[in-house]
Amino acid sequence: MALEDPRFLQYGTPQGDFHLRSWIAERSASMGITARPEDILVTSGSQQAIDLIARTFVGPGDYVLVESPTFITALDILEGRGAKLLSVPLEAEGPRVDQIASLIERYRPRLMYTIPTGHNPTGITMAEERRRQLASLARRHNLLILEDDSCSEFAYDADAPPAVKAFDAGGHVALVVSFSKTVIPGLRVGCVIAHGPLMARLAESKSLGDRFTSPLIQRTLWRYLSAPQYMRDLTGARETYRRRRDALLRTLKEVMPAGVKWTHPAAGFNLWLHLPDGIRAAEAFEEGLKEGVACALGDLFLPHEPPPAGLRISFADNPEEVAAEGVRRLARAIARLLSRVDRGEQEAEFVTTV
Ligand SMILES: Cc1ncc(COP(=O)(O)O)c(C=O)c1O
Repeated sequence: MALEDPRFLQYGTPQGDFHLRSWIAERSASMGITARPEDILVTSGSQQAIDLIARTFVGPGDYVLVESPTFITALDILEGRGAKLLSVPLEAEGPRVDQIASLIERYRPRLMYTIPTGHNPTGITMAEERRRQLASLARRHNLLILEDDSCSEFAYDADAPPAVKAFDAGGHVALVVSFSKTVIPGLRVGCVIAHGPLMARLAESKSLGDRFTSPLIQRTLWRYLSAPQYMRDLTGARETYRRRRDALLRTLKEVMPAGVKWTHPAAGFNLWLHLPDGIRAAEAFEEGLKEGVACALGDLFLPHEPPPAGLRISFADNPEEVAAEGVRRLARAIARLLSRVDRGEQEAEFVTTV
């Protein structure tokens, strides 16, 4: 490619390759979004987009709304900016949007970080009506929304609802998209879709940060995305993850002791296991390790409140039979802890002061 066109070896522009941005603009129409190439900034992974938005719009002491639990790296980035995090509880339909208005009135937050589709770590997908409400709250209160989407191409039961950005009439939503799951994480390409002054400031930050993302990598990605093979690969990957999700849900139902509950993800790569009363996530995690199985400890994904008794199980990486064996072992570990709870042995942890 460099021989074909030596410009790929030269400095690029902060917003990125025009062909790639045109492709993204066209594809984003399927998420209900109207975007032109000039509304798109290519970043080095979507993580850089999150970081750029945080460093451009959030300063020390600013309040930021986050779903609880949420993506651990976003928490670290926001805390790194000195933000004060305000938790919005999550339920099956998505974040409690009804609580957001009063939080906004009380704290005047700068930003809300949300993962509406295939939420990490819970697997929850926000209902369309809540997306609409969130966009309208943002407009009414001049709140910036950082919408993180790495999973809407991986919706298993029906198409994912339109993005929050699709309801953004006033330019308050910056939508961050990743190519790590749809293509490969090793390319380090993501993007942010934002309009007007938001985009202008983000492009300036990108230019000051790492100037631009590799033109050679961007054009390579565009060649792949615009070839028919991409859609075939994406459909195949979606099928693989759907099978893995279904198999995981079946095994959980077969082997988990009574009292253990879990989410049923319609998109993404994760589900959240709610542990029964009396069992802490850290204990279940440790007991699982004794069986040779590990999953992510729920406590890690929390802004600041007391840890819920939960674990994240990812179905992205393991073939069905490996995941099934892992879940059987985790079920054994949890059953052992439950029998100790029944016998009252958990009290032993609270040592009497003498
Ligand atoms: C919710 C969420 N956002 C962002 C990212 C970062 O993705 P990228 O590889 O594009 O930086 C991840 C990675 O797993 C993720 O789960």
